[in-house]
Amino acid sequence: MTWADGFDEQAREILRRNDRGGYTIPTSGLYPYQWNWDSAFAALGFAQFDLDRAWCEIETLFTGQWTNGMVPHILFHAPDEGYFPSHEVWQGTGPIPSSGISQPPVAATMARLIYERDPEIGAARMEMLFDKMVAWHRWFMAWRLDRGAVCVTHPWEAGRDNAPDWDVAMAAITPDGVGEYKRRDTSHVDSSMRPTKYDYDRYIWLVQRGARLGWDEAAMLDGTPFRVADPTMTFTLLRAMRDLAVMGAALGRDTGEIEGWIKVLEAGAATLWNDDLGCYDSRDVRSGTWAGAVSNASFLCWYAGIDRPEMRDLYRDVLAQVKYGVPSLPPSDDRFDGKRYWRGPVWGVMNLMIALGLADMGLTDEAEALRASTADLVAQQGFAEYFDPRDGGPAGGSSFTWTAAIWLGWASPNAQGV
Ligand code: DGY
Repeated sequence: MTWADGFDEQAREILRRNDRGGYTIPTSGLYPYQWNWDSAFAALGFAQFDLDRAWCEIETLFTGQWTNGMVPHILFHAPDEGYFPSHEVWQGTGPIPSSGISQPPVAATMARLIYERDPEIGAARMEMLFDKMVAWHRWFMAWRLDRGAVCVTHPWEAGRDNAPDWDVAMAAITPDGVGEYKRRDTSHVDSSMRPTKYDYDRYIWLVQRGARLGWDEAAMLDGTPFRVADPTMTFTLLRAMRDLAVMGAALGRDTGEIEGWIKVLEAGAATLWNDDLGCYDSRDVRSGTWAGAVSNASFLCWYAGIDRPEMRDLYRDVLAQVKYGVPSLPPSDDRFDGKRYWRGPVWGVMNLMIALGLADMGLTDEAEALRASTADLVAQQGFAEYFDPRDGGPAGGSSFTWTAAIWLGWASPNAQGV
């Protein structure tokens, strides 16, 4: 038994413990439901030891799909008092109590990685999932594009809740009428690691607006104060389209529509290039203002199949500033806050996606260095939700599903290659 075997067992144990039967919660207490992109990564972890359970995770996620194709960011399968805002606040309109927004579309990409472990089983499972994934991607193309780049309508939709990418859009919101509410996140985790009250008032205000409008996309678009074209969504959807097209072709499906979407998104990704910053950046659609942030989402360009020499130099420059990369914001940015969620910390799932992209670009040494550094972080600090990039200090929730999953599927020396 090697040192890594012990960590593998711990990681499997975390997935089993967070398994609620067909779906996995990110961690008990802080996130007691099924989260969209967390589940997709969880599936990659399960695929290392239980392929059927891996497919099941993704299938359960799609049982929450709305008739308009949207796949919600939270499915409230079973009640839990410990989370706010509950489904009563969200008032989602799908088949399962849910939120009213989506999350970065990584399911098709994780499905393709799982598919490749056993293409015969994968083809059988994807037969059922393919049209659902296409419908979800079509919903993004219909409702979330600005000049071909994918926008978020709530910071929670990008998964990077308190990233500086939304500061301009958030400042334009006056959260009148939000009323009294009791946050639950800060009873599970120290408030210095979580978004501020200023942020939360605006998160809830946006949820209340959507609920009031019955989550009708056309009505919400009209006069929306919050619409930001973002690298996370644009790059993950572009990559997911490419992976879906490959699986579609293997299934003998017509992939023409997907190929068309790929062209649109490639053009859209170019609109996220901030010349002054020399980096892919978020663009506030209403004001036209750039976020000016070299975030870890900026480095998902390679994952989306897009290369620019400037990004390679920037990557090395950012890594040189920290002990553990890739920080969600580099210390050279005066908004950096090493423990506060998406304003500095390192996230294993982002590292996995960045490494997949680096490897695709032929930067195999960089991809391997990032894997080894992520493995080191987890081995030293445990399966935390995220980590301080300066010293690796663990932060947020513990026994975290997606950290365990990326360990099993990628970071562990025993991982069978992604
Ligand atoms: C939360 O509750 O903090 C989540 O990030 C929302 O998705």
